[in-house]
Amino acid sequence: MPPVDANAPTLVTGAAGQVGQDLLRHLVGRGIPVVACDLRPEPPAADLGHVPWHAVDVTDAEAVEAFVAKVRPRRIFHLAAILSARGEANPQRTYTVNQTGTYNVLEAARRHGVEQVVFTSTIAVFGPGLPEVVGDDVPLHPTTMYGVTKVAGELLGAYYDRRYGLDFRGVRFPGLISASLPGGGTSDYALFMYYDGIRVGHYTAFCRPDTKIPLMYMPDAIRGLVDLALAPKERLTRNVYNIAAFSPRADEIAASVRRLLPDVRIDFAPDPQRQAILDSWPRVLDDTAARRDWGFAPAFDLDGMTRDLVPKIRALVAATNEPAAADVAAP
Ligand code: SER
Repeated sequence: MPPVDANAPTLVTGAAGQVGQDLLRHLVGRGIPVVACDLRPEPPAADLGHVPWHAVDVTDAEAVEAFVAKVRPRRIFHLAAILSARGEANPQRTYTVNQTGTYNVLEAARRHGVEQVVFTSTIAVFGPGLPEVVGDDVPLHPTTMYGVTKVAGELLGAYYDRRYGLDFRGVRFPGLISASLPGGGTSDYALFMYYDGIRVGHYTAFCRPDTKIPLMYMPDAIRGLVDLALAPKERLTRNVYNIAAFSPRADEIAASVRRLLPDVRIDFAPDPQRQAILDSWPRVLDDTAARRDWGFAPAFDLDGMTRDLVPKIRALVAATNEPAAADVAAP
């Protein structure tokens, strides 16, 4: 199969998800031709201009192959996945979407001359017994099906790179926060402090106040993902990179929210299952390799994010009639 044309579009799988929406907007803003797919319809408020949108089930190998053969993308951002908390409610479905889905995308890419697959990995690849600061190469012992499938996705992609010359790159995202509702992650307590704080004036977090995991504001995450995709291959020393921004305790996030919204009440009622997942993740990530190899540098700290995010969440709450946040988060 000859390589695809240099002007071929970029394909985004899982485009209706939390990362997909902002990634599409970023790519469209940079004038990059893009094609989106997801099983879900295009979100009504997406405001993405004229991005072609296709319903594709990544677990269906034939459908993925036929779609990639038709679109002939040069690059695929493979985002489609079920996150950690929701994944524990149905590990079998999570395996199929995350693991079989990634295999199907890599196979279709290999067969149809796609140059590059960009993968979104996660802090959930790590497991208990970590050092205080976690580098790229510590042992990976995830406790969730989401984490297991992301480790396997990292390894599978690196295999396709070595074996077939498919340019496979990925970042391990911290918990991501943005003005859109996340889809069942264990890091969602952070966003809900803002979202429910603005929507109903209070939020009870499902974690302890001293819970500390790496977090990142979505604009830094998107810029990081796209910068990695566009970095010269010869600068890269690995396939998958840790990236980091800030690591606040949960009560420090609450304090940041309350500095801007003093009337918001935030309290804590840890849920044992989700707390155990949070306690198994890194407290602080070391992203030295990402900074050195392709210049990753986040722009937002916690309070900078809070200032930027609060007006956006206000607009989201005003524009949507979403179900109670707790319903969305429940595993
Ligand atoms: N935000 C993700 C989750 O909580 C972590 O990658 O599942």
